[in-house]
Amino acid sequence: MISLSLSLASLQALFHLDTDRLTYVVEAFSGQMADGLTGRPSSLAMLPSYLTCPDRREHGDYMALDFGGTNIRAMLIRLLGQGRFAVLAHRTAPLADPAGGYDYTAAPAKELFDFVASLIAEIAPPQKTVALGHTFSFPCRQNGLNDAVLLYWTKEFTATGVVGNNVNTLLQQALADRGLSTIIPAAVVNDTVTTLLTAAYSTPDATIGSICGTGHNTCYLEPQFPGGTRPMYVNIESGNFAAVPANPYDDLLDSASDRPGSGRLEKMCGGRYIGELLRLVGLDLFRHHRFITENLPTRWHEPYSVTAKDLAELLQPASPSSPLLTALAAPDQHVLRMVAELITVRSAHLVAATWIAIVRRIDPDLVRPHVIAIDGSLYEKLPGYSAAIDVALSSLLGEKASQITCRLVKDGSGVGSALAACQGEKKGMC
Ligand code: GLC
Repeated sequence: MISLSLSLASLQALFHLDTDRLTYVVEAFSGQMADGLTGRPSSLAMLPSYLTCPDRREHGDYMALDFGGTNIRAMLIRLLGQGRFAVLAHRTAPLADPAGGYDYTAAPAKELFDFVASLIAEIAPPQKTVALGHTFSFPCRQNGLNDAVLLYWTKEFTATGVVGNNVNTLLQQALADRGLSTIIPAAVVNDTVTTLLTAAYSTPDATIGSICGTGHNTCYLEPQFPGGTRPMYVNIESGNFAAVPANPYDDLLDSASDRPGSGRLEKMCGGRYIGELLRLVGLDLFRHHRFITENLPTRWHEPYSVTAKDLAELLQPASPSSPLLTALAAPDQHVLRMVAELITVRSAHLVAATWIAIVRRIDPDLVRPHVIAIDGSLYEKLPGYSAAIDVALSSLLGEKASQITCRLVKDGSGVGSALAACQGEKKGMC
């Protein structure tokens, strides 16, 4: 039996990324961005969005659809210019019923998109033609603003008949089947891009948009997309970054996942996975040391039973209330708290390193201010997460870190989808 303190020291060595390792991440990420942009082999897809910055004078009513996380959301949004907007109506429903009644994340495409259309139907203005912006938060090869083909699912979605198909066509068909031909899907857009659009609607300094939630991904304003004439938002699909300093727990999680080898950064940073990492480390500690707790609850043995929410509870000052944690003796909770901290800080530091790579690409000497627009539960709620990002930015950029402002942009999918639909309308998509 290995001593607990020795194990904790080796966990610290496995999860802690010092400046050298983070600098390596910055450089490797920069190289892969350049490769992805020029069509060389890269784990970064660098997908064009066909969207550019808003001019901040956008006005009008648009439908917005947010599809990509736990919930699906339909909204009717009124854009009022200069960052102002009003939500006229909205409906939200979980994609998988928590009570187990249905699970559209694993359903055939027709059922999934009919469910989506049913939500839109509840708030669509009658007899009025309205452009719809569709935030679809998965990797899509776009050949135009409303021509987006799903490359592969992420976040453990498995719905059939969507990969390889145009998601706009699937939505259009589902709307037509419900007699909703006045709702015109005019733009398909990634959630990173809607987050950035939302920030850019009120500030021209917004150049990077990122999601630190269930999944992780970042986009940015690329000044010179190959073949493009204007600056364009590029969806990096950074969660797929493969040159990551992974440890054996990361490898274990990856090999048991739906798509081993893909989404390596996301599997180290995303909310879908950090609870699972905690579970794997916790099981290992339990097996190799005498935890005071004699028996772990059986659920600890079930993959993905420990969630990011459980991990967050460990980091809060109040005692945890999750049954998975209350079943553990206080000293064991304390040990897991240290592990939760290591996982949290590593996620934040990795994310910060990728942002630095992006800023360096668009502004190598950091002469301009940059706003990084961020949405997602980890950034908003996970104790210590945003502070750890600030620490990494300062330690890697020194004084220049003051040029960067990290800004929480909540629910960008509504306004951002509306702004994307507005650009689609101007391009004559409807
Ligand atoms: C996953 C998706 C990506 C999305 C991110 C955040 O990484 O592949 O498209 O932006 O999750 O939702």
